[in-house]
Amino acid sequence: MPKLEFHQFPCLSDNYGVLVHDRAAGLTAAIDAPEAEAVRRALGEKGWTLTHILVTHHHADHTAGIEPLKAETRCTVIGPKAEANRIKGLDKTVAEGDAFAFGETEVRVLDTPGHTAGHITYWLPSESVAFAGDTLFAIGCGRVIEGDAETMWRSLQKLAKLPAATTVYCGHEYTVSNAKFALTIEPENAALQQRAAEVERLRAAGKPTLPTRIDIELETNPFLRPHVAAIRKRLGLEKAADWQVFGEIRERKNRG
Ligand SMILES: [Fe+2]
Repeated sequence: MPKLEFHQFPCLSDNYGVLVHDRAAGLTAAIDAPEAEAVRRALGEKGWTLTHILVTHHHADHTAGIEPLKAETRCTVIGPKAEANRIKGLDKTVAEGDAFAFGETEVRVLDTPGHTAGHITYWLPSESVAFAGDTLFAIGCGRVIEGDAETMWRSLQKLAKLPAATTVYCGHEYTVSNAKFALTIEPENAALQQRAAEVERLRAAGKPTLPTRIDIELETNPFLRPHVAAIRKRLGLEKAADWQVFGEIRERKNRG
């Protein structure tokens, strides 16, 4: 039996919640708490009791459920140190370089600012799993709201350098529109063409396109591919730095 069980479920209009369960230790963590009711329902379906909430960033569609869930379960809430004054109910704050134990599993913290100034990613090396919140999406990335393109680019590079087989859970189901946009940036990418068709099929069948995996994103996500000559040529940025090409791709997505 694997040490941890992961349960992803839809919340709000296009968010995902994830529960992480350690049966031996009797622990269950919610990754973010988009809305209390959806988290409660998911816990009920699995028969699990909430013991932790791990928060990636302060946005309401990731934090609205914290206070009611904490009041009901007295769970421990862990979140980004740099956003401690913007998230109510935090018991423990963490930042880059920190690690903590969830049962016997080590959770490492990566600072991944850009979408918000203090956004963090939780990485479980022994499980090859990362929770990237709104930094990396399948075939996309989060909007750069509280940082600049270079900051977001560095955060994405940190995730891109995780082991290739790392499974990545993300905050939102945006993959179909991300794939359509990605095809305007790199239409000749055969892996992307194939994946775009696959995500259309999954969504038509009512299935999630997430979690994703680092190696799949490296092949198909234009935000991780500013080094590709065909992309640079299409954008007229042959000599620009990678982060500048990334910034132009992000601008085009914002306008689209
Ligand atoms: Fe967000």
